Amino acid sequence: MTKSPSFPIQAVIFDLDGVLTDTLEFHYLSWKQLADEEGIPFDREANEALRGLTRGESLRLVLQGREVGDETFQSMMERKNRYYLELSQNMTLDHVLPGVLPLLTELRAAGVRMALGSASRNARAVVQRLGIAEFLDVIGDGSCVTQSKPTPDIFLYAATQLGLDPANCLVVEDAASGVEAALRAGMWVVGLGPEERVGAAHLVFPNLEGVHWVDVVHKLTYQRRAIAAT
Ligand code: BG6
Ligand code: MG
Repeated sequence: MTKSPSFPIQAVIFDLDGVLTDTLEFHYLSWKQLADEEGIPFDREANEALRGLTRGESLRLVLQGREVGDETFQSMMERKNRYYLELSQNMTLDHVLPGVLPLLTELRAAGVRMALGSASRNARAVVQRLGIAEFLDVIGDGSCVTQSKPTPDIFLYAATQLGLDPANCLVVEDAASGVEAALRAGMWVVGLGPEERVGAAHLVFPNLEGVHWVDVVHKLTYQRRAIAAT
C-alpha cells in the first residue's frame, strides 16, 4: 500500500507545461495547424482536454475517432512536433512563468532538491532553452517511463533518481491527470489552476506567483494537524 506523504519535504518535482512555462499555447497552435490541414475541427476548448496527456494520447483525441494507419499516426505526431519545435525555438527566460524563478531560488537556498516530472519528450530541450536546467537535479521526461500520468511512474522515477522516499517529495502540477499521478505516488501535491481541475491536490493556487516555500510547508503542516484532529 502507498504510504501517506510526510515531513520533511526533501524534494519538489515540477511538471513543466503549464507550471514552469506556458507552452499550452504552442501545443494548441501546433495541434490546430495539423487539425486544419486534416480538415478536423479543433478549438481551444478541445485543447484544454489535452493538458498533461502524451503526444500520442493527444493525437487520438484530436482525431476524434477517425481511423488512421500506424504510419500515418506516427507521421502526424512528427508533423505536430515539428510545428511545436518551430514555435518553441525562440523561448528564453522571459517564457518562465511569474513566481517560478523566486521559488526555485528559495528552494535551492532551503536545500530542497528539485526535479522535473513531465510527459513531454521535449522537456529537456525546453528547460535548457528557458535557462532553468541548472536548478534541476533530475530531469524526468516522456522518454523515461512507458506509462503516462495518471500512473505514478514519472514521479516515482524522479524520486528514485533523487534517491528519496516518495513520501518526502512534493509535486507541482496543473493537470488533473498529474495530480492523480502524484497522489498515487504517495507524494504531496500542489495543484495550479481551478478547483474543478486540480481540487484533489493538498493545496491549490492559481499559479506560482507570490507562492513562497515557507508558506507551502506551513499550510501543509497545519492541514496535517487538522486532518489528524478529525
Ligand atoms: C505535457 C503537455 O506536458 O506534454 C501536453 O501538458 C503535451 O499538452 C505533452 O501533449 C507531450 O508533449 P510532447 O512535447 O512530448 O509532444
Ligand atoms: Mg502540465
